[in-house]
Amino acid sequence: MESQVQPKLIIHGGSGSSIESKGGLIAVRQSLHKIVEEVYEMLLRGAIASEAVVRGCTLLEDNPLFNAGTGSVLQSDGQIRMSASLMDGATNRFSGVINASRLKNPIELAKFLQNSPDRVLSDYGAAELLRELNVPPYNPLTDKRLEEWIEERKENFTKKMANTVAEPAGSGTIGVVALDNRGGLAVGTSTGGKGFERIGRTSDSAMPAGNYTNGLAAVSCTGIGEDIIDECLAARIVVRVSDGFDLKGAFEKSFAEADDRQRDFAAIGIDATGAIAWGKTCDLIVAAFHDGQRIGDSLEIGQGTKVFLA
Ligand code: GLY
Repeated sequence: MESQVQPKLIIHGGSGSSIESKGGLIAVRQSLHKIVEEVYEMLLRGAIASEAVVRGCTLLEDNPLFNAGTGSVLQSDGQIRMSASLMDGATNRFSGVINASRLKNPIELAKFLQNSPDRVLSDYGAAELLRELNVPPYNPLTDKRLEEWIEERKENFTKKMANTVAEPAGSGTIGVVALDNRGGLAVGTSTGGKGFERIGRTSDSAMPAGNYTNGLAAVSCTGIGEDIIDECLAARIVVRVSDGFDLKGAFEKSFAEADDRQRDFAAIGIDATGAIAWGKTCDLIVAAFHDGQRIGDSLEIGQGTKVFLA
């Protein structure tokens, strides 16, 4: 019989500078805690990490507060194109979709691709696959996102995106990291992208830079995708853990380096020992976790804190 491990869970709904003007602390906290509660319950019932991660990402994608799935931001041409990926530490396998449109849950397509010989598909390929799978078309546009885009267009996109969790533009993403009761790790990340980006711009969320595990640690990133890619942040932290750093040390070193280079991002992670951590160079990461004893979150952690171990 396999030995039982205490499950662990951390989720995020993006990063940025302030939560106050966007539905605020209470709405965001309630949404995050409810999702943590439901997904942690699954882990307690014996769900494997990748199942819990997909469920958590689906719930976050379905919540219009967050910039992923329903509520995704619009690109420069007024279209929504979403990116998502899933990595399973048990198989060391990455899969994802880049700039997929007209679907409800990009993470579901990433999950499907886990068992495909072609594991990362971009726009046209993702559309073809949706057609093959008979997935009904879905419009993830919300009135709020459309209004934001129209307002910004009037000013020729010179201002930053107005929404909470996608503010500043480029920092909205969702992510889930889980450790299951067999000791398996998985991670998923999903995003509507930067907002107002050039057509064809590719997010970090469907790259190992933004979403990575090797079974020893798992990390999901949020923030400016170009900065995350330049640091190869998720893989960087995970490889440091494989090379002997503890999770906090790996976050601290990676975030100190990022701070020196004025990067703008945040990340969450769990390692195989059950340590839970997050880090940020920006003021705020919208994250919540379950450590086996309680649900906690990052929403009122001071701006000065760079790395936190739950
Ligand atoms: N981190 C999300 C993006 O830059 O697309």
